[in-house]
Amino acid sequence: MGERKPFIAGNWKMFKTAREAMETATALVNRVSDVTGVEVMIAPNFTALTAVYDVVRESAVRLGAQNLFWEAEGAFTGETSPNMLRDVGCRYVIIGHSERRQYFGETDQTVNKKIKAAVEHGLAPIFCVGETENDREAKKTFSVLDKQVQNGLKDLRSDDVAMLVIAYEPVWAIGTGKTASREQVQEVHNFLRSLIEKKYGNELANSIRIQYGGSVKPNNIKALMEMPDVDGALVGGASLDADTFSKIIHFQ
Ligand code: G3P
Repeated sequence: MGERKPFIAGNWKMFKTAREAMETATALVNRVSDVTGVEVMIAPNFTALTAVYDVVRESAVRLGAQNLFWEAEGAFTGETSPNMLRDVGCRYVIIGHSERRQYFGETDQTVNKKIKAAVEHGLAPIFCVGETENDREAKKTFSVLDKQVQNGLKDLRSDDVAMLVIAYEPVWAIGTGKTASREQVQEVHNFLRSLIEKKYGNELANSIRIQYGGSVKPNNIKALMEMPDVDGALVGGASLDADTFSKIIHFQ
């Protein structure tokens, strides 16, 4: 895996009220205080960000958001700006998650706008890409991923992309219990890294971290992390319980 620091992130989606999120974050901070060689982040619901930041701010656990809007402020009912996320302690923001593409009309073009807004405000994007089961069965995985990466990173400079984390999340593995095999994951991660190399050169390709997401559990994280181009995980269901998520974070 080279000199890339492993990065394990929890995407709490639309689970946990602010109080529940505070309780889980407190339990997690206590369980991972011994971890130094792995970067850890949790992305609770917007309503919980302030309360959870109060819990994690003195710890090594970083705070992330699950989405943003690209404007700094304005008449955009229901939206949240990058500076508002920074203001409540976010360091990361998940962008382009397949659930936002599937249910909320997220496109490669809106993803690109959001990535630009995030880096402009000092937020590190976790840029989600992934194919559907139909794409994979039709042998379109690599063309779908290539399009998502090219469009998502359009007009971004090298120092912008240097802030990025890519998360490969095969849609067919999210929430299904069906984890991609480590060989499938390695093949895709290596392909994604080659896209970055073609676009931005060897140095950036070797330094960018690529997480895998899709039914990551304590019993499969170690095998995944042994693959050379897997630098971490974006965990959904298994991150909601502090004990379970701590086992994933202690994969080494
Ligand atoms: O963003 C991570 C998430 O989509 C993965 O969900 O429940 O399969 O770990 P899960």
